[in-house]
Amino acid sequence: MKVPLAQPVMTEEMVEAAANALRNERLTMGESMFRFEEEFAAMCGVKHAVSVGSGTAAIQLSLLSAGLKANDTILTSSLSFVATTNAFVAFGGVPAFADVIESEYTIDPSKISVAAETKAIIPVHLYGHPCRMDEVNAIAEESSVLVLEDACQAHGAMYKGKRAGALGDIGCFSFYPTKNMHVGGDGGMVTTDDEEVANSVRKLRHCGRKGQYEHDAIGYTARLNSVNAAVGIEQLKMLEGWNEKRRAVAAKYHSKLKDIDGLRLPPRPSGDVIPVYHLYAITTERRDELKAHLDGAGVQTGVHYEIPIHLQPIYRQMFGYAEGMLPVTERLCRQVLTLPIFPDMTDDQTAYVCEKMSEFFG
Ligand SMILES: Cc1ncc(COP(=O)(O)O)c(C=O)c1O
Repeated sequence: MKVPLAQPVMTEEMVEAAANALRNERLTMGESMFRFEEEFAAMCGVKHAVSVGSGTAAIQLSLLSAGLKANDTILTSSLSFVATTNAFVAFGGVPAFADVIESEYTIDPSKISVAAETKAIIPVHLYGHPCRMDEVNAIAEESSVLVLEDACQAHGAMYKGKRAGALGDIGCFSFYPTKNMHVGGDGGMVTTDDEEVANSVRKLRHCGRKGQYEHDAIGYTARLNSVNAAVGIEQLKMLEGWNEKRRAVAAKYHSKLKDIDGLRLPPRPSGDVIPVYHLYAITTERRDELKAHLDGAGVQTGVHYEIPIHLQPIYRQMFGYAEGMLPVTERLCRQVLTLPIFPDMTDDQTAYVCEKMSEFFG
């Protein structure tokens, strides 16, 4: 049996919606883009959703819109995709990192230290698991810094009755093809209740336009194409059901793997936190051996992430970071392995992965 790590869905309805947008709409700034934004805002429970060309653009344009600038410090976790920080290092922002909670993989509020130069905190809902937002928001409020959720892996996740994307000042999403929902290519979304931020992101994604031929900001070309938005509308209809199926796969993993010694499983849903299992991340000291065993049995796995952001070559070079700075994050990067999870994963596939895991651990 072969089990892929992820399996992006593209139904006939999605293809039809894309073809319809190609035939009948403006190719950029078309009606699907505006409709997708409205429906995404409603899903998150926020006033504004502004679509952009990627998750990276979502983070970058929202930070710029909130007034962040070169030399401002932005604090986040290093256990993330490098785009979380690339988004602001690109305009001269300076990263600072807090270590993560080992069992939850998300930023540890007790390790957050806000310096005078710190102007924003980016909690990353890694693998679809919401951060401890009450604590993060309390710290941010005390020191008057912005909270931007990196919700690029957490479409539809919930924390204390609210959706990811509605838990801080701004939320940022990616629609990269392997995410819980995609747009048939690259795409991103900014969510916020702040009208000024929303309007600024609208301007910055559209070349800094004030009118058709007048520009009053240094903008970017970072719009979501109509064809992608049309696919996004169809994907969004499926999101809740897909997330439910992901949680069902995670529950099966949990029941079959929970008693294996030397294996730690990701957090389960609780009353307060409903994760969406973008990835099912386990940890073991024998990660590389386990990976080889599963690869050999046709089970595709991933390592998210093998290198924490602060130890990426360009970050070492630019900021002089070295090993030992974030012990929990660095340990997790040596131990984490992501198992296959996707909505249409069959019971046979889940059982097969668990059988190969049990075989490995004996
Ligand atoms: C946590 C996180 N942040 C940011 C991004 C950047 O998104 P994109 O690839 O759409 O630019 C991604 C996804 O790839 C991500 O997983």
